[in-house]
Amino acid sequence: MTESQKIQAAAEFLRSRLPEAPELALVLGSGLGGLAEQIENAVSIPYRDVPYFPLSTAPGHAGQFVAGRLAGRPVLCMQGRFHYYEGHEMSAIARPVRVFKALGCRALVLTNAAGGVNYDFQVGDFMLITDHINFMGANPLRGENEEAIGPRFCDMSRVYDTGLQEIARQVAAGQGLNLQEGVYLGYMGPSYETPAEIRAFRTLGADAVGMSTVPEAIAAAHCGLPVLAMSLITNMAAGMTGKRLSGEEVIEIANQRGPVFQKLVAEIVAALP
Ligand code: HPA
Repeated sequence: MTESQKIQAAAEFLRSRLPEAPELALVLGSGLGGLAEQIENAVSIPYRDVPYFPLSTAPGHAGQFVAGRLAGRPVLCMQGRFHYYEGHEMSAIARPVRVFKALGCRALVLTNAAGGVNYDFQVGDFMLITDHINFMGANPLRGENEEAIGPRFCDMSRVYDTGLQEIARQVAAGQGLNLQEGVYLGYMGPSYETPAEIRAFRTLGADAVGMSTVPEAIAAAHCGLPVLAMSLITNMAAGMTGKRLSGEEVIEIANQRGPVFQKLVAEIVAALP
């Protein structure tokens, strides 16, 4: 079975369950899952019910689609995502993005929890992702290319849509939020980075580091889906504070700052074209 056929099968299944065609797709990372509770007339669809979808196992990730209206807009959210460190194939991580495109979504909002690499950042900050560095050692476009999905050699000069970024800046300013900006470096994980790696990544131009988002952004660029991406800085990266890192602390900060992040994302959704 080709990847296109799997995407079509998953899209057809979702179409049969969705209350209406979604305009926007959102991937809710750690701390943002609560945004799904604000969706009106919500319909939940566990990934395990969707043809050719793997199971999501990461802590703090619910593992379902939630569809309905957010800020008046028809949306389709992933409450929880697939990570490469869970053992999923890159093609499986890219699949939901391609399904969003097949369903007619016009933009993709990606969110995540990330470690701050830039010393100007503070725990609890939000960062608009303006570009990324793929340090995962893998690419979702590896293997046979299906031209029906996108081109063999995909331009990556403008993955993160500048118009959507401008909207995010305006909404954040209106809410009195200091929205940081920078480059997200995708690391395979699941171990956190060493202090030496973080120093190296800073030299390379990274402002934040995390274990997701990059594969989805590459898949979106490939199929022509404009992306807006934002990180919640849940911790300063390894070696920056003398403190050790823990997954529990990441989830704790994500939950603490979650409501503010959710309000920002909801208002951005309302303002998107
Ligand atoms: N490193 C990698 N991924 C992360 C971090 C980090 O420090 N914090 C949250 N996700």
